[in-house]
Amino acid sequence: MEKLALLGGKPVRTAAWPSWPVFDQTEEKNVMQVLHSGHWWRHSYGQGVELAEDDSTSPSLVARFQNAFARAHACKYGICASNGTVTLEIALRAAGVKAGDEVIIPAYTYVATATAPLMVGAIPVFVDIDPETYNMDVQRLEEAITPFTRAIIPVHFGGQPCQMDEIKKIAARHDIKVIEDAAHAHGASYRGQKCGSLADLASFSFQNSKNMTAGEGGIITTNDEVYADTCETLVWAGRKRGQPWYRHYVLASNARMTEFQGAILLAQLERLDEQNRLRRENAQRLDVLLAGVEGIRPSKQLPEGTSSYHIYMFRYDPKNFAGVDKQRFVAALQAEGIEGAFGGYTTPLYANPMFLEKEFMGGAYPLEAFENGRAINYADFERRCPVSERACASEAVWIPQSMLLGSAEDMMDIAEAIKKVQRLAVQLH
Ligand SMILES: Cc1ncc(COP(=O)(O)O)c(C=O)c1O
Repeated sequence: MEKLALLGGKPVRTAAWPSWPVFDQTEEKNVMQVLHSGHWWRHSYGQGVELAEDDSTSPSLVARFQNAFARAHACKYGICASNGTVTLEIALRAAGVKAGDEVIIPAYTYVATATAPLMVGAIPVFVDIDPETYNMDVQRLEEAITPFTRAIIPVHFGGQPCQMDEIKKIAARHDIKVIEDAAHAHGASYRGQKCGSLADLASFSFQNSKNMTAGEGGIITTNDEVYADTCETLVWAGRKRGQPWYRHYVLASNARMTEFQGAILLAQLERLDEQNRLRRENAQRLDVLLAGVEGIRPSKQLPEGTSSYHIYMFRYDPKNFAGVDKQRFVAALQAEGIEGAFGGYTTPLYANPMFLEKEFMGGAYPLEAFENGRAINYADFERRCPVSERACASEAVWIPQSMLLGSAEDMMDIAEAIKKVQRLAVQLH
């Protein structure tokens, strides 16, 4: 009798998946070049706060990389930093977000989208996601706006661009800044225009799982020189361009990227377009392969967006799998050799203890100090965000970008494993 691998049967596949991160002699050469140069940080080239419009020939690989990445994303300026969490904090500060301001974010995202406002003293306000795309629901956006709202952070979740026209129209009506969280969206585009260039500022991550990586790293992109200047100041401990080295003008941390990261990222950028092309091709294959499977609905891609497929997501319906819950379904899929399959966030962000207990810097900050009579109770968002609740509890399944770098046969294995788990789901009771 055919048996699920989770229960001791033969797995659909045992072959390895494409390894991640991908690198070759270019990364090796670049890293060795930095190592032997002795210039391990950008400032040893005399580079830093002095933002140049064209750094394409700089001896600093960070400077060269941020220039190249910005150009590849239709922006004049790129400001590298140590990760994609601090880039969000810096972007918010550059946009003028201050203590007591409200910042609207989706409920289905990584924690940094919410901690960034908190770290600048602002209050994250959650909006539910669209049931088809899992991006911020633009129909629910306006009702979240108050006189205190200062910024919106749309997250291009999984690499699918948000409905930026609608978001920007609403933002303009209320004089609110827009900062893209493009941590998943390297090389993605919306109506033919690159993510990263669609709003006031944007933030990308180069953490290890991302579509291009240096293990850690981040960048802010913008077309506005004043924002860019402020971001450099905030990366460089409050220094200003053209001013003496030990003059610090604003409160800021050290968020610098090392030359080693710049060296790796320069090489990773060269590979991005081709890898994204393959990710898209395989995502489309999966769409076709899964189209006829009852209870599996790949997340809808809007025609105006071109995803970078950081995550291929589908919606799982236990009804078509003998009532087996999502976590057990994912475990069965992993046992069949689809090791990277993942159930994603287990709760929406606001349901984390940090928010429910308002455990922000010893409890005295910032809501009590700045809430201007507003009594924000993060438990209330459960009622307001049913789609995020459902996505986390029972519905959303993720296939990571690195698996999309496999072959057409690899995609067939994913589909075959899902079908096998469906056929034999009763065994899981
Ligand atoms: C949506 C989103 N925003 C921000 C970040 C933060 O990036 P980093 O891990 O580089 O700090 C991540 C990282 O996973 C993310 O997924």
